[in-house]
Amino acid sequence: MPQPRQARPAADAPTGLFIAFEGGEGAGKSTQVHRLAQWLREQDHEVVVTFEPGDTKLGRALREVLLHLEGPRPTPVAEALLFAADRAEHVARVVRPALAAGAVVLTDRFSDSSIAYQGGARRLGTARIAELASWATGGLRPDLTVLLDLPPRVGLARFATPHDRLESEPLQFHDRVRSSFLELAAADPAGHVVIDASAEVEQVAQAVRAAVEALLHDARQPL
Ligand code: TYD
Repeated sequence: MPQPRQARPAADAPTGLFIAFEGGEGAGKSTQVHRLAQWLREQDHEVVVTFEPGDTKLGRALREVLLHLEGPRPTPVAEALLFAADRAEHVARVVRPALAAGAVVLTDRFSDSSIAYQGGARRLGTARIAELASWATGGLRPDLTVLLDLPPRVGLARFATPHDRLESEPLQFHDRVRSSFLELAAADPAGHVVIDASAEVEQVAQAVRAAVEALLHDARQPL
């Protein structure tokens, strides 16, 4: 059963819930984020939907550089640092204020993406990138990470042409991304739920709701 990951503030201070969606290309994260947001709002939860990279002013500029800059691609280390910079800004300006206001925050990608793409697939080392992510976030971790798992050849086939630089990487790169995501989930089963993203959209949405219902139930229990 997922357990809340943040130190809880004083009993009268509002405290939200932080849920990250992760997965490879074409896993359907944004569809599922929006479905979950709608379901939560129907139950009167305050919901903030956000994403990485790019959901701040600085982040929008970084996103352009990271995904669409023409010319030679950034070196792997530069790429990792730029994703970390986006995350630091995102956590400080969007995620922490929303959590402090008591919202359920749904983010489309978070630290596991850097660990899987830069640490695993780019081979910078998962421990080093996890440490960088921890610095960037001030140690903030999701209460639950929903991994939408899909074979990369299935996910990539959902697009006619690659949209950006990362998507254009070869299949082996995306295979390494997938293995890294699965390793992260296996190493922290209490904080992750792995959902088969090749299923029908509604079936995936139901599995997501079941995991989040369990989390909400736990969060309501007195500490
Ligand atoms: P985006 O258009 O947001 O696509 P997606 O729908 O796949 O989330 O593109 C984000 C791309 O950036 C995606 O290929 C994954 C990659 N990425 C990293 O390599 N490291 C990271 O830390 C993050 C957040 C994303």
